[in-house]
Amino acid sequence: MTRFTGGVAFTPITMEAGDGAPSVRESAVLKASNSRTTTITDFSGAVMALQALNRWRGLLLGAASIILIGCPPGDGTFEAPAQDPEVPTTVRELYEFLEARSYRDFDHESAPHPPAGPHLVTVQAYMNRALVQSLTDGNTQHPRGSVAIKELYDTEGALFGWAVMVKQREGNDGTAWFWYETHRGPGRAENPNYVGDGVGACIECHAEGRGYVRIPFPLR
Ligand code: HEC
Repeated sequence: MTRFTGGVAFTPITMEAGDGAPSVRESAVLKASNSRTTTITDFSGAVMALQALNRWRGLLLGAASIILIGCPPGDGTFEAPAQDPEVPTTVRELYEFLEARSYRDFDHESAPHPPAGPHLVTVQAYMNRALVQSLTDGNTQHPRGSVAIKELYDTEGALFGWAVMVKQREGNDGTAWFWYETHRGPGRAENPNYVGDGVGACIECHAEGRGYVRIPFPLR
């Protein structure tokens, strides 16, 4: 039986990343409909409540994802200026950038932690300098070229995917950001769980954030 420090053990989700692997939110739906098999090894009230909430959110978002999944990624490109370090502007190169963990030098959280959002099982966020500077300045809108990457870890502590947001235009609506979420695996670059400008399933939650950014800042 696997444990993680948050206190709730889940069967590994979507470990067999490949074409058609369920998204995080679909997994949450599966989990919700199969909740009797969820194994509780340790009680942590806060995390339990959070996970229960996430499961209900998952139900709603899963319904939304039925519509969203399968949306073509367009021409596979998005806008963003070169930054230091440079972030690519096609999903193919972005995927390679993620696999190579070329964002390693970004400012980041000190360790993976249980999410406040929908992503299981633990997450660790990275931000490029443009975004760190903007948050440090207390901005409620972030400049073009801001990038945040959230690593997604499974119950074994293995990195299985990423959620990414890239500010591609000035302005403060969700479409100014490019959103991307994928699991690792062959063919997943152009066949991610979510991709596009202002993806509804992402911005409905992120609109609550500071200029769409949700992670507590300064980074912990
Ligand atoms: C149910 C609400 C919710 C949804 C839906 C959601 N997120 Fe998040 N997201 C969060 C929260 C809360 C955080 C803060 C970190 C954490 O605890 O997970 C976060 C953090 C992030 C981060 C790190 C930067 C930041 O904003 O803090 C990225 C990148 C991200 N999410 C991408 C996405 C993408 C891409 C989607 C859509 C595929 C998405 N998120 C959908 C709630 C959500």
